[in-house]
Amino acid sequence: MTDPLDFTDKTVLVVGGTSGIGNGIAHGFRERGANVHVTGTRASADDYSAEEGSDLSGLTFQRADVSEPGAFDAVALPDRLDVVVLCQGTVRYRREEFEREGWDAVMEVNLNSLMDCARAVRPRLADGGGSLIIVSSVGAYHAMIGNPAYAASKAGAVSLVGSLAQAWAGEGIRVNGIAPGLVPTKLTKVTTDSEQRTAGAVARIPAGRMGTPQDMAGAAMYLASPLADYVVGQTIRVDGGMTLS
Ligand SMILES: NC(=O)c1ccc[n+]([C@@H]2O[C@H](COP(=O)([O-])OP(=O)(O)OC[C@H]3O[C@@H](n4cnc5c(N)ncnc54)[C@H](OP(=O)(O)O)[C@@H]3O)[C@@H](O)[C@H]2O)c1
Repeated sequence: MTDPLDFTDKTVLVVGGTSGIGNGIAHGFRERGANVHVTGTRASADDYSAEEGSDLSGLTFQRADVSEPGAFDAVALPDRLDVVVLCQGTVRYRREEFEREGWDAVMEVNLNSLMDCARAVRPRLADGGGSLIIVSSVGAYHAMIGNPAYAASKAGAVSLVGSLAQAWAGEGIRVNGIAPGLVPTKLTKVTTDSEQRTAGAVARIPAGRMGTPQDMAGAAMYLASPLADYVVGQTIRVDGGMTLS
């Protein structure tokens, strides 16, 4: 019997695969045989360091800063794509998201660029009956103090999963999503750098711990695998039960 989680000879692209959750997802697929491409904002792979949670070994890097509309169109896509994970994400603090500039900056990366990326990869995914996975957040499902754009962008991302899944299932593209809970990365340093805030957050997680990039990789590989062949348009909460109550 073939292993449904063997991705040998598959080509995977992780947008926002240079650190944190996306980097963990990229290595999950790489460890299971895939040829993995990642994008991030910096000029070269040498600009990333292990101290920041980045490991680009064995991954093919290309720069793609999607903070400008249409920027993803300049990316040289591999000829073949079996799985695309959209994991880019940003946040603004100090109430900046209440101002137009901060709002736009977050919406551009967290929502508008998802559509740009999805539009660009669609023909290649359709060629091989591929899988598109959008990383949103459990912040999609509740109000977020101080981060209206982040929460709204993530709610938009969950909505986009459903609309794209419905539109493209007939082409053989399965679109699904992952809504992570709390994972220590450079995006969440503001919480995890504080022992008190971390303890407060963990106390609200039934699983009793924060999530890891590997936890997210498990969900991504399941969604991309034949095990999920009949799963269409779903966003799985991978949050240790944090949003159960
Ligand atoms: N960590 C959590 O607790 C958590 C919870 C729920 C959802 N999420 C979501 O998970 C995803 C990954 O976040 P993370 O926590 O792993 O944070 P992270 O370590 O900061 O990773 C974010 C990724 O997005 C890329 N990125 C940021 N701005 C970009 C831009 N303008 N253009 C292109 N790429 C850009 C980053 O590239 P560089 O490395 O070059 O900066 C990096 O690869 C995000 O969508 C985030 O909203 C995270």
